[in-house]
Amino acid sequence: MTALNRRLGVLISGRGSNLQAIMDAIADNRLDATISVVISNRAEAAGLARARATGIDTVYLNHRAHPDRESYDRLLASELHKREVGLVCLAGFMRLLSPVFLNAFPNAVLNVHPSLLPAFPGLDAQRQAWEHGVKVTGATVHFVDADLDAGPIVAQATVPVCHDDTPETLAARILPEEHRIYPEAIARVLDGAWTVSGRRVVTPT
Ligand code: GRF
Repeated sequence: MTALNRRLGVLISGRGSNLQAIMDAIADNRLDATISVVISNRAEAAGLARARATGIDTVYLNHRAHPDRESYDRLLASELHKREVGLVCLAGFMRLLSPVFLNAFPNAVLNVHPSLLPAFPGLDAQRQAWEHGVKVTGATVHFVDADLDAGPIVAQATVPVCHDDTPETLAARILPEEHRIYPEAIARVLDGAWTVSGRRVVTPT
């Protein structure tokens, strides 16, 4: 695997705090990359305003305007290709991506998820962990495949679950770990010294 092109496309649906963490890491020279575009499937996503405020190109693509997932994903991929994006970073993008999209960006789509995958995939992962009664949970950055929150794992961080936690306090403890490991994982992936062996992301020792 040679080093990837360092142009990022960030896909969001909402708040955009992980987008902000990526922007901050780039501004602080902790991440050698450029955000070429931020795309949201929701016009009201606060992350769009964060990106616009720093002059980053933004696009709103309404999935409801498309008859099927594939036609939406084709448009999404073409907006990213147009800007020569090399790595796609999902940051709270609330849609599954079809093979149409994933084949357009092979091994080049990352996601951040607020649990220690493979535990608690899907929505409300922090609440799922809290309800299950686990004593440790965390955050995961992984490559995206066609299954939900299931691709090869690039980075994880653990967070304790305290006896007086609520799903909200637990989520608030996990979020800074997402913000810490996502830019680090993006930097590692962009450096290109890794391969995927089965499910394992392997870096040379
Ligand atoms: C984060 O918890 C992320 O792990 C999950 O969705 C949330 C997005 O938050 N996939 P934000 O929009 O980055 O603030």
